[in-house]
Amino acid sequence: MRFLLGICLIALTATRAAAESGIDAWLRYAPLNAPDATVATLSAQAPNHIVVLNATAGSPIITASQELQKAFQGVFNKTIDILYAADNCSSVIGSVKVLIVGTATSFNRLCGNNSSSSLVSSSDLVPDGYLWQLPSHDSSLPTLLLGQNERGTLYGTFSYLLELAQGNDPAKTASNATTTNGHTTHISNPAAPVRWVNQWDNLDGSIERGYGGKSLFFSGGKVVTDLRRAAAYARILASVGINAVVVNNVNADAALVHTPANIEGLGRIADAFRPYGVRVGVSLNFASPQSVGGLSTYDPLDKSVVSFWDGVTLQLYERIPDLAGFLVKGDSEGQPGPKKYGRTLAEGANLFARALRKHSPADSPGILMYRAFVYDQLQESNWRADRANAAVTYFSPLDGQFDDNVVVQVKYGPIDFQVREPASPLFGHLQKTNAAIELQVTQEYLGQQCHLVYLPPLWRTVLDFDMGKVDGEPSVVRDIITGERFNRLLGGSAGVVNAGTSDTWLGSHLAQANLYAYGRMAWDPTAGHDDGNDNSSTLSTPRHIIESWTKLTFGRDPTLVNTVADMALASWPAYENYTGNLGTQTLTDILYTHFGPNPASQDGNGWGQWTRADKNGVGMDRTVRNGTGFAGQYVGKEVAAQFESVETTPRDLLLWFHHVPYTQRLPGPGENTTVIQHIYDAHYAGAETAALFVTRWAALNASGLIDPERYASIARQLAFQAGHAIVWRDAICGFFAGLSGIADRHDRVRHHPWRIEAEAMTLHGYTKQAVSPAITASGGQAIVAAGRGQASASATIPTSIPPGVYTLAVNYFDLAGGRSSYAVQINGKTIGNWTGNAEDVFGKATSTHLDGHSATRVSFLNVVVAAGDTVTVLGTPDGAEQAALDYVSFLPEGVVD
Ligand code: GCU
Repeated sequence: MRFLLGICLIALTATRAAAESGIDAWLRYAPLNAPDATVATLSAQAPNHIVVLNATAGSPIITASQELQKAFQGVFNKTIDILYAADNCSSVIGSVKVLIVGTATSFNRLCGNNSSSSLVSSSDLVPDGYLWQLPSHDSSLPTLLLGQNERGTLYGTFSYLLELAQGNDPAKTASNATTTNGHTTHISNPAAPVRWVNQWDNLDGSIERGYGGKSLFFSGGKVVTDLRRAAAYARILASVGINAVVVNNVNADAALVHTPANIEGLGRIADAFRPYGVRVGVSLNFASPQSVGGLSTYDPLDKSVVSFWDGVTLQLYERIPDLAGFLVKGDSEGQPGPKKYGRTLAEGANLFARALRKHSPADSPGILMYRAFVYDQLQESNWRADRANAAVTYFSPLDGQFDDNVVVQVKYGPIDFQVREPASPLFGHLQKTNAAIELQVTQEYLGQQCHLVYLPPLWRTVLDFDMGKVDGEPSVVRDIITGERFNRLLGGSAGVVNAGTSDTWLGSHLAQANLYAYGRMAWDPTAGHDDGNDNSSTLSTPRHIIESWTKLTFGRDPTLVNTVADMALASWPAYENYTGNLGTQTLTDILYTHFGPNPASQDGNGWGQWTRADKNGVGMDRTVRNGTGFAGQYVGKEVAAQFESVETTPRDLLLWFHHVPYTQRLPGPGENTTVIQHIYDAHYAGAETAALFVTRWAALNASGLIDPERYASIARQLAFQAGHAIVWRDAICGFFAGLSGIADRHDRVRHHPWRIEAEAMTLHGYTKQAVSPAITASGGQAIVAAGRGQASASATIPTSIPPGVYTLAVNYFDLAGGRSSYAVQINGKTIGNWTGNAEDVFGKATSTHLDGHSATRVSFLNVVVAAGDTVTVLGTPDGAEQAALDYVSFLPEGVVD
């Protein structure tokens, strides 16, 4: 027996690219390799001077000029000086090429009468919008990057630089561009004023559902002293048009706004963000008047409560005059709210909105984001009970009762960031109320950044969802949140991002694409709407967004760009296939960490994420006719009617709307298959796609297109994902096969001829242990090293493996609380080893049990087995981790386990 190659992930060839940690995200301003004619022209046209108009220290305009300098240096190796034009710009315009950066107003005041430039029209700009005026390449006219306000100037600068950094000519890629008098003008306005990020950071430095390290803002109950990472985060956010961050968890700690030290700390965060035009918002705890304010009540209509919040708001505005506003989660998941006092959610929201209105600048009132995520525990025995109904039930009667600086923040689906949900019907009911969509960049139910899941295609299904005809007009979500559809002044997007101290910000390089895309889509939710006009940087399909992100993050090589884009676009459908398809939600463990499979946890509790899977069928009946009535919550009668029948419900939402027998034929065109067979087939297809990611990524290595650090980190993630997809596949298929008693037509489910169960091996120092849920281990059992902290235990395969060349896969359990080490030996010779150190490598939530979260797979390629060879796995436990093993598989080429 001979070992040909080590762990498939580790081997690396030397590459040209320098080490990168990911901390610069897509703002690397890397030199453009293999320059083409466009790049050569852009380089030749680089300005001699950057002229900054009328900017005060620390303003986003100064930041913009510094970014320009940095980018021209990095991308084109040109050192360009910065000039300040405080009074007029005649001295700097004319003979040499200049790039002028400032607001449109200051440009017209300082430069508009110059012989080399004329007034720009800024009447088409809205706050935060910008224009570029780009001279033709042979012209000596200045390049203008002008914002409607200072923040807009920075957005315009970043979007210009992000084109240059991809090697694109901004004049050619700009949408809405007009060319006159030797220059091209491009205008871009944000579709909505609310483009916020929510961080679920706790004062102790942890982040709820955060998978990218500790908080950038808090530690030990206080705001951290060193806010440089916070400022760097603001830079990344500003580069894609984000204008505010709510810095603390929606499950808010009242102490944050209670002590002078914390208010000062929030002020320092705001100071760190301000040069990037990013404002601070704060999550509040409804019960604060009572819990920290010494009052006997937190009734929103009580005068003392009103004055408590007045006081808090005033103190905050005194320190942070540009405070963005507040975010409130009330009456949900144990959080206090107005219902306790019989007050409506609107009365609760208006309490804060009025305090904000009173103390914020009149021309820029603070915004109160009030979460629509309000629901109660339910009785599963009631067929008509449905958590999905809650938001409309609570909020629809209140439409029109919210103050005009309140925005109701609605999660994209009616349950909770599942792999697929229909759009929340509440969007259609908020016709006299400002609305924003809440998206989740942090991948709580979507693989926690250990699985590549590129989210824009999911988000598009919601943004493009039509709530149906209201007064004869369609009501598409993207138009509702921008305020266009129901003529609202406020609205937009809130993205739960949960970036942390990891160098990758989110815990994975590839996950950064979702943050980039979130910003782009918040700026323009119509982006990527497939109208055949995909020739610009702003009007971007999910493919266009991932391509531009890849060019900026890794480089422009077409093979690299195609590989990343293909993988990204295949990733959400694959994840849906191997986790929860046909609209049955992510079948993860909803009672523990939301990471690995545990379909049974959906039912049998009051959380209302039920699938109602039993021996005969599966799915929630949400019809009006016979079910919970949820389908009837869509304002458009035609939409509600579509979901009433199995035949007209889109296949991928079938089990969301209907409870059907496993033998139900799937509706719609295409293959004529049953629900149960589709569940099996989809899970196998999903896991196969995840396996392809590993090989596609490996193929890139040979060409040395990416630095070894990021290459290896991504390879490791993709290998983990491929292994975990098999854990998912087997658990879900096993669950439904067990429940339904219906076999897989292709005989794959619970039939693994290449597997050798660990519990069937000859054990020394190992004992058998049941795994819970049993479906997350092959055969329902694992082996654990008996007695913690002991020396190595061993498991030897009792039979001979037929001679051949195999991929050897080992499934083991990587728990928190220890770093067990493992080795595979053939005839006593180690052919591969690894450590159970996922807690050091991945940001996902850890598990302290043998379960679907800890189940992990490692693979070795090209393992040669000769006749009579003895194969042994050695495990050395560490701490609380008992070097647990599930099985090994010897897979001949092309065989799926
Ligand atoms: C989910 C999540 C919680 C979070 C909640 C919310 O339920 O698991 O951690 O607090 O959403 O959005 O408020």
